[in-house]
Amino acid sequence: MGMSTLQAAGEGVTQREPARGAQGLAGRWGWEEEGWKQCQCPTHSHTYSQALGLAPSGKTTDYAFEMAVSNIRYGAGVTKEVGMDLQNMGAKNVCLMTDKNLSQLPPVQMVMDSLVKNGINFKMYDNVRVEPTDRSFMEAIEFAKKGVFDAYVAVGGGSTMDTCKAANLYASSPHSDFLDYVNAPIGMGKPVSVPLKPLIAVPTTSGTGSETTGVAIFDYEHLKVKTGIASRAIKPTLGLIDPLHTLHMPDRVVANSGFDVLCHALESYTALPYHMRSPCPSNPITRPAYQGSNPVSDIWAVHALRIVAKYLKRAVRNPDDLEARSNMHLASAFAGIGFGNAGVHLCHGMSYPISGLVKTYKAKDYNVDHPLVPHGLSVVLTSPAVFTFTAQMSPERHLETAEILGADTRTARIPDAGPILADTLRKFLFDLDVDDGLAAIGYSKADIPALVKGTLPQERVTKLAPRPQSEEDLSALFEASMKLY
Ligand SMILES: NC(=O)c1ccc[n+]([C@@H]2O[C@H](COP(=O)([O-])OP(=O)(O)OC[C@H]3O[C@@H](n4cnc5c(N)ncnc54)[C@H](O)[C@@H]3O)[C@@H](O)[C@H]2O)c1
Ligand SMILES: [Zn+2]
Repeated sequence: MGMSTLQAAGEGVTQREPARGAQGLAGRWGWEEEGWKQCQCPTHSHTYSQALGLAPSGKTTDYAFEMAVSNIRYGAGVTKEVGMDLQNMGAKNVCLMTDKNLSQLPPVQMVMDSLVKNGINFKMYDNVRVEPTDRSFMEAIEFAKKGVFDAYVAVGGGSTMDTCKAANLYASSPHSDFLDYVNAPIGMGKPVSVPLKPLIAVPTTSGTGSETTGVAIFDYEHLKVKTGIASRAIKPTLGLIDPLHTLHMPDRVVANSGFDVLCHALESYTALPYHMRSPCPSNPITRPAYQGSNPVSDIWAVHALRIVAKYLKRAVRNPDDLEARSNMHLASAFAGIGFGNAGVHLCHGMSYPISGLVKTYKAKDYNVDHPLVPHGLSVVLTSPAVFTFTAQMSPERHLETAEILGADTRTARIPDAGPILADTLRKFLFDLDVDDGLAAIGYSKADIPALVKGTLPQERVTKLAPRPQSEEDLSALFEASMKLY
C-alpha cells in the first residue's frame, strides 16, 4: 500500500427511498442506486449545515473527500526490518515508545534487536498509559522534547501508537499549548502546519488501526471524557504489520480489540455520506480527517467486516491460530483505512464517557493497575441500540452488514433492518462471552445523565451519525444498552 491521496468529486444529495436489492458498492454512490434517504424536515435538513461560509464550489455541504493512509508493510517477521528502515531514513537518535507490559514481551525485544543490529542509537520510553490521559500524553511529550529525537518507533496497541503521535506532534511544535491541536469544542482544533519527524508504528493488537490513521485519542481527565487530536499530519510514516506479534495477545485483548475493528467497519459504513457533511471547507487543510462515508472507505469497511465475521471467533478462542490472528491483524488496518477517512459515529461518541467515567471495573487480561473499560468493549456495548436507531437512514447497509455477520436476510423487510442487525450483534457478543451490557460494567440508570453529558462534546463523531440525536435520544440509547441479552 503506497501513500495515497485521492480527491473525488461527489454528486449532490439524492432524495430517493432506498430500494431493497440495490446492492453493489459501485452503484451505491451513483444517482440510480443511492441507498440513502435524506429527511426533508427542517430539523434534519439543517442539522449538518452550520456552514461558516460558502466554499469555492458555492456549496455548503462538502463536495470532495480525500484518502490519506500511512504506508504499510505486512509480513510475518517484518519487524526485523525496522532498524534498516531507520538507517535508510538517516535517523541518528530514535525514541522507542511502548507500555510497561509490552516492554517485557517479545515484540519490543524484536524491535530492540533490530535497532541494535543496525547500529541505531535509541532511548526507550515505556511509561505509556494503557488508555492514555492528557497527563500521560504530556509526560511522553516532555520526554520527546528533552530527547530531541529525529525519528520515533511505537510498539504496542492504540495506547502506545497514539501517545507516540502526540509526542511527535508537540515536540515538533514546542511552543504550542496542549489544547491547540485537540479537537474542538474541547480544544482549539488548529490545523497542523509544522513538519513532524518520521514515525514507524508496529501494532501489537488487532483493533485500532492507529498505524494507518491521523488520530490520537486520550482521556481528558478534567472532564472525564475521551477526546483526541485528528490530523492527517500525525499519521505514521510507516506501519509495520507483523502478525507474529498477535500470538502474544491474551484472549480478552483479542476480543476487545476485534470489537473495535467491528465497530470501525460498521460505523464508517453507515456514517453520514461525505457530501452531506457541513461545512464545506474553504481550504483543503481544514477538511476534517473524518469526512463521512465515501466509496473508497466503503470498500475497506466491508472487506474488514467480512474478515471479522470469518476469523474473530477463531482468533479469540485459539491463541495458536496464526491464520485467524493474521487475518484480524490485517482487518484492523483495513478498517483503519476506511474509518480513518470516513470517521465513526455514535458507538464511538458514546464510548468516550463510558470509558472516561469508569468506576471500579477491571478488565480481565489487561495487566494494568487502574480501573479500565477497554476501548473495544466500550464501543461495542452500545452497538445493538445504536444500529437500531440509525437503520432507518440506510436500511440497505444495515441489512447488508447483518448478512455479512451471519444473519439470513433473504426475507427481511426494510423496516426490520435495525432489529435484525441488533440481534445479530447480540448473538455475536454472547458467543464471545461479552459482559451483559453497561450494567455489568458498573453503570446504572442514575449514571445516564453524566453519560449523555460526556457524549455531547463529541460532535466530531456524533455529527457523523446518519441520524441526528437529541439528548433524549442519547439517554434512550444508553438505557437500551444497560442490558444486552
Ligand atoms: N488512533 C486511532 O485511530 C484509534 C482508534 C481506536 C482506538 N484508539 C485508542 O487506542 C486505545 C486502545 O488501544 P488497543 O485496544 O490497541 O489496546 P492498548 O494499547 O490499550 O493495549 C491493551 C493491553 O494489551 C496489552 N498488549 C498489547 N499488545 C499485546 C500483545 N501483542 N501481547 C500481549 N499483550 C499486549 C497492552 O500491554 C495493554 O495492557 C484507546 O485509548 C483507544 O481510544 C485509537
Ligand atoms: Zn475505536
